[in-house]
Amino acid sequence: MPLDRAACAALDRDDPLAEFRDAFEIADGVIYLDGNSLGALPKATRQRLADVVAREWGDELIRGWNTAGWITLPQRVGAGIASLIGAEADEVIAADSTSVNLFKLATAALALRPGRRVIVTEPGNFPTDLYILQGVRDLLGDRVELRVVEPDRIEQALDADTALLLLTQVHYKTGRIHDMARLTAKAHAAGALALWDLSHSAGAIDVDLNAAGADLAVGCGYKYLNGGPGAPAFLYAARRHQAQLRSPLSGWMGHAAPFAFGDDYAPAPGIERMLCGTPPILGLAALEIGVGIMARADRHAVRAKSMALGDLFIRLVEESCPGQFILHSPRDAQARGSQVSFGHPEGYAIMQALIARGVIGDFRAPDVIRFGFAPLYVRYVDVYDAAAHLKDIMDSGTWQDAAYQTRGAVT
Ligand SMILES: Cc1ncc(COP(=O)(O)O)c(C=O)c1O
Repeated sequence: MPLDRAACAALDRDDPLAEFRDAFEIADGVIYLDGNSLGALPKATRQRLADVVAREWGDELIRGWNTAGWITLPQRVGAGIASLIGAEADEVIAADSTSVNLFKLATAALALRPGRRVIVTEPGNFPTDLYILQGVRDLLGDRVELRVVEPDRIEQALDADTALLLLTQVHYKTGRIHDMARLTAKAHAAGALALWDLSHSAGAIDVDLNAAGADLAVGCGYKYLNGGPGAPAFLYAARRHQAQLRSPLSGWMGHAAPFAFGDDYAPAPGIERMLCGTPPILGLAALEIGVGIMARADRHAVRAKSMALGDLFIRLVEESCPGQFILHSPRDAQARGSQVSFGHPEGYAIMQALIARGVIGDFRAPDVIRFGFAPLYVRYVDVYDAAAHLKDIMDSGTWQDAAYQTRGAVT
């Protein structure tokens, strides 16, 4: 692995994904290392949204549901996402937020395992995963018990009372990857279902839900899928479960015949039953562009570049700032998602100093500075330059500037 900038530029010239960077709007002087939180804006999204607003909405008005195909957009976007996560087109649908989809699927999963009341998950998961499970427990009372166990105790925690195992495949803070196939098999051996949060996986690492035998999954549209802030999320239900799966949010868009306007709920036959209300067309139109770009990229090239960028960054930071940061991510690229996290007690101020120089990563309390490497638009030279800025900030002590100490509402 080269360590000088010219060698990094050479890697960029040989990068089979290099052409994709031009599909995104990234301002000069910005090194964007936060695509794991909010993906960059695809250039085509600007045009597409203008068209949806002016022509489809402005001219077509209500007719757009048919003439512009709005009514099937959740399925179409879902099918695109399915191609990225090893699922069939009719197993994935774009809808709601990841939090809401977690609620729908966790609740529905409990009903698929009558007589079992335990949901197994891990502490330190992304908060919404835990909060949603706590809400499900509060709603269903004695019918639910949460068993929150450290990762190395997950397998022992699965037993004859377990209805569901809920895990996030790539940890949001550290980037550690859970072995989906192995843990799903363990859940099945105990008679339980497995629900995977793919928020930091889809578009970043190889995901093969069907090969892993996964039952259910959810994930974000605004991270590596580049759907824009608050983009609709997605959910997956293996075909074998769909006929039994009942959404607790039995809205009319999940009805078998929504436009019959009947009084009684009857779920749609397939994955559509997991829809709830009217789909957000502007958000879905933007997400469709992001998913389309990602679907054109070679999955293996994406993963190979993601691992190489992460390895390069770890090496550069450890060589240029020896002993100053604790690596919180797995060193082994195979065990790491598309991000690298370092710990430092002054992490917040250091990240603010980086952002002031145009190197945009993020901070996660209490001490984690997090750098995401979205392989479609992050270059090897970006990684080199980011590490050089970090060294400069540490050597000069500029992070101690008072301006970098004040925390905003969103960190
Ligand atoms: C693992 C995980 N799940 C869920 C979410 C967010 O869910 P929502 O889009 O409902 O806010 C995030 C956001 O970063 C996440 O990292």
